[in-house]
Amino acid sequence: QGFRYRPELLEGLPEELTKELKKYEDWFWVDATKLKAISDHFAKELEKGLTVEGGSVPMDVTWIMKYPTGQEKGRVLTVDLGGTNIRVCDVCLSAGKRDFEQRQKKYKLPEAVKSTTKEALWGFIADQIKSFLSENHSGLSASNPLPMAFTFSFPVEQKSIRSGILQHWTKNFNVSGVVGRDVVPQLEEELAKKVVRIVALVNDTAGTLVASHYRDPQVKIGSIFSTGCNAAYMEECRLVPKLRGSGLSEDATVIINTEYGAFDNERKVLPLTPFDRQLDEESAHPGRQIYEKMVAGLYIGEMLRLVLLKMHEEGLLFKGQDVSRLRAANALETSFLSAVEMDMSESLTDVKKVFKESLNLELSLGELKACRYLIGLISMRAARLYACGIAAICKKKGIRQCHVGVDGSVFSKYSMLKGRAVQGLRDIFDWEGDKLDLIALNTAEDGSGVGAALVASVALHPSELEEC
Ligand code: GLC
Repeated sequence: QGFRYRPELLEGLPEELTKELKKYEDWFWVDATKLKAISDHFAKELEKGLTVEGGSVPMDVTWIMKYPTGQEKGRVLTVDLGGTNIRVCDVCLSAGKRDFEQRQKKYKLPEAVKSTTKEALWGFIADQIKSFLSENHSGLSASNPLPMAFTFSFPVEQKSIRSGILQHWTKNFNVSGVVGRDVVPQLEEELAKKVVRIVALVNDTAGTLVASHYRDPQVKIGSIFSTGCNAAYMEECRLVPKLRGSGLSEDATVIINTEYGAFDNERKVLPLTPFDRQLDEESAHPGRQIYEKMVAGLYIGEMLRLVLLKMHEEGLLFKGQDVSRLRAANALETSFLSAVEMDMSESLTDVKKVFKESLNLELSLGELKACRYLIGLISMRAARLYACGIAAICKKKGIRQCHVGVDGSVFSKYSMLKGRAVQGLRDIFDWEGDKLDLIALNTAEDGSGVGAALVASVALHPSELEEC
């Protein structure tokens, strides 16, 4: 019946349900022609973001002007405010050895901290830093402060590597008193005794690019596929009109944090479904990050929830059951989708268990198959659209072959995403035969630890770094 995603998974389903699923497939399936059109338009939008007038994609200048040489050494404290956790790390770089030592501590961010006041947010982070330092460092003083790199994964306008004005919150953060202000002094103020000094403000994608390139010079793009979705690459300053007049030399380069989660906020090319519109309207920031909302981990579980609920309301799924858990916003995390897809068995017993445990729903075999199919479709669309962002950077830069460092728990834990994204790239670039996989998506490690520490060490004079 013209199904393009795995029709074999639908065998034995009642006709009514099959017909309905076809409608969802038509909504969620993005074919090669569309992927090409999206990535072409995407490349133009990246270009536009570099102009003085700008566009919807911010293309933020990070002031990271070069890659580390491998000779960096010394000790840097790194703090990463991600979408879900805060991680504090003590990184020790040793020259000549493309390796490092580190101690780290990870704390889950309480939901309340994401929509509080600036004092409460920075106070919370400062407390984690202080507790880490009291366990791991002695002898720090205001006259001998430890350099710190702060990975702050939100769009900021930077006038230097040590500062950054928050343009707007993304993901589900909404802390008052920060938008339009420099986040560095705000955090420093809470770190009252000034035993650490923030020397670099780094986006997670820029940290990933630097850390991945440090280990593998073929890496040209650093990307995050996690709670949010974004990428960074190295640009020639002469190709950045908005940098004109800043006195940079002709051959200078700089890492651009694309912030491309904002791609197509004006809704010109992305194939939005009614569910995308609903998800956007009910999100923390309606009208923003339209591309990110179709791809990233914060949203794909919610997308599934909206679809399942709609099918229930139409009498197609979970008839006569109590769907109260499914009605709760954000009831489904990405791990729910990956757990379902891991079950390749005929009987789908694990899928059954997952639905029972997470949602208290009892599914028939037909329902299990239908739900797994829908999950495959939503995840497939996310992965294929993810490929469009990477492809757009390659098109914009004329890159035909490279490695991409991809960090983020969604990418690393949801194992099917990678293959699906790679297939998306093949569709966009028509790779066949010996041209297979010229752009390789490789799992990256530790952009916010090693990557951020390297950025800090490049920004400092060697004498400013303490031996470790
Ligand atoms: C959001 C943020 C961006 C970050 C990405 C991944 O898109 O705006 O700065 O890189 O999430 O964490």
